[in-house]
Amino acid sequence: MLSFCVSSLLLVCLFANNYNGCAAKTNWEATPLSIGSNTTNPSAMDMNLRIERISRSEFGFSGTFFWNIDMDDSVMVEMRVLSSYSGHESDYKLTPMSIPPQKFTEYINTFYKDLLMPNLGNCTDLPVYETEFVPPWPKTTFNFTRCALNGKGLPDILAEGYYKAEAIITALPNVEFTVAAILRIRTKMF
Ligand SMILES: *[C@@H]1O[C@H](CO)[C@@H](O)[C@H](O)[C@H]1NC(C)=O
Ligand SMILES: *[C@@H]1O[C@H](CO)[C@@H](O)[C@H](O)[C@H]1NC(C)=O
Ligand SMILES: *[C@@H]1O[C@H](CO)[C@@H](O)[C@H](O)[C@H]1NC(C)=O
Repeated sequence: MLSFCVSSLLLVCLFANNYNGCAAKTNWEATPLSIGSNTTNPSAMDMNLRIERISRSEFGFSGTFFWNIDMDDSVMVEMRVLSSYSGHESDYKLTPMSIPPQKFTEYINTFYKDLLMPNLGNCTDLPVYETEFVPPWPKTTFNFTRCALNGKGLPDILAEGYYKAEAIITALPNVEFTVAAILRIRTKMF
């Protein structure tokens, strides 16, 4: 389900190309349009990612994600998925694929471990947990090199239009970090 996918920390599934793996199943193809982030505190958390074209139909992303806070129960993550047929800013509406805020440590033990890391594989040096999250989460700069995903976990059928996925990470006392990706979904012509 998309909710699983977009709950991936970095929205990586939204960059999925459906050339490998999903071509036969889905009725849509996705083109990533932008990725960006905001932080209230760049010395606590920051990101610098860019979209890269890998081949005609494949996209990936590369860059860095800087994490410099303690991973404790105050760290929360929320996912919002909005869609708009026209792509105009004022037309975006929240979809049921959004997920409410949850503790980041819970997220690591579920979506992160089961979906995000298996999909990302070796394109990143984010920590891997075979069973349960074991503290500490490293304070470092994580690297991504041409991360591309196969679209596993996305719905077979999506309505045409623009989709915006936002992940919001908050931590006490005053860290708020948002990463947002916009992509366009088109119905495939057979
Ligand atoms: C970052 O903040 C600016 C100004 O509020 C806003 O226009 C932009 O859309 C935000 N970007 C993301 C990725 O949230
Ligand atoms: C990823 O790295 C591990 C360890 O270096 C290696 O065993 C594995 O084959 C690699 N997987 C891919 C898909 O390159
Ligand atoms: C990411 O790359 C930088 C520069 O090569 C390196 O210093 C850093 O340790 C890397 N991050 C991880 C988590 O390995």
